Amino acid sequence: MSSKPTPDIDRTRRAQAQAQPNIALIKYWGKRDLALNLPVVGSLSITLESLWTRTAVQFDPALDADTFLLDGRRDDGQLRRVAKCLDLLRARAGVDYRAKVESSNNFPTGAGLASSASGFAALIVAGNAALGLNLSLAEQSILARRCSGSAARSIFGGYVEWSCGTRADGTDSLARPLLDADAWPLRVVVAITSKKEKAIGSTEGMNRTADTSPYQQAWIDSQEADLVTARAALAQRDFEALADISEHSCLKMHALALAAKPGLLYWNAATVDCMHRVRALRAAGVPVFFTIDAGPQLKAVCEPQAAAAVAAALREIPGVLDVVETGLGGPAQLIAAHQQVAA
Ligand code: DP6
Repeated sequence: MSSKPTPDIDRTRRAQAQAQPNIALIKYWGKRDLALNLPVVGSLSITLESLWTRTAVQFDPALDADTFLLDGRRDDGQLRRVAKCLDLLRARAGVDYRAKVESSNNFPTGAGLASSASGFAALIVAGNAALGLNLSLAEQSILARRCSGSAARSIFGGYVEWSCGTRADGTDSLARPLLDADAWPLRVVVAITSKKEKAIGSTEGMNRTADTSPYQQAWIDSQEADLVTARAALAQRDFEALADISEHSCLKMHALALAAKPGLLYWNAATVDCMHRVRALRAAGVPVFFTIDAGPQLKAVCEPQAAAAVAAALREIPGVLDVVETGLGGPAQLIAAHQQVAA
């Protein structure tokens, strides 16, 4: 047993929160501090609407270990990461209660659909409420960042920028909202080309890249200009400018990762076919562009009137297993909270 003081009036403290994944248009790839999970570059993303993670956390002095259930099944593989996140929350609250975490996703986990972003954002929001921490959104974004970098952005809705920051302690490396979802209601059509978990997760992939890719420094040096271009495209609602800079950032991230040793190849044949299809649609005047993360799914971002045609075109491609369409969504939110105080 730990010797930390634990107030004995509370029995269980629980809360449930929902967060949506976000998709980076200007990508995060690479860390400047592994322990604090600080990035080497800033990034810019859109938060989705209809894909979600719902996470319930219950801190209970009667538990002697943390447990993690994903979609109803114990997931001991992810437990260490979840427990690390719980440790950050416990340290802020000055308690040492173990917790039971139950999470569910309405989309495949770990296949490049940003489940760690929505998962850890939901856990931080739920944990903050369960432990009565009253953390600001900025502090929640910082804590979420420490659990998974992209989770810092899923605290917010719409268009979001996560600053690289320069401080060694990471207090200036957090996300902030740039534009509400309603201010520019683009849509995202996700072509699912595999439902398997990816072989090399983002953390391992970006560390291998930093250690072995000859393009790492060029990636870092060119990021700020991409962020400037993307911010201007947002401010002007300039779809073509956003399309060009987003595809550039995606392809540059993959080029960097492809050049690692051994090279990281996240695409399958259907992913590449989808890329060509999206390019052909755009050349024919359809307002759509693609982006791809550390997995084989392709996300096509388009103007609302083009979504049905984009979805139909991607559905036709051999190897596309499913197509999911979504708008842009809001911030992570609390669904329920309960702090029981003993009589
Ligand atoms: C390709 O946020 O999953 O999706 O901080 O190690 O947990 P960790 O990495 P993670 O990486 C996301 C990488 C990406 C690009 C992005 O979302 O910006």
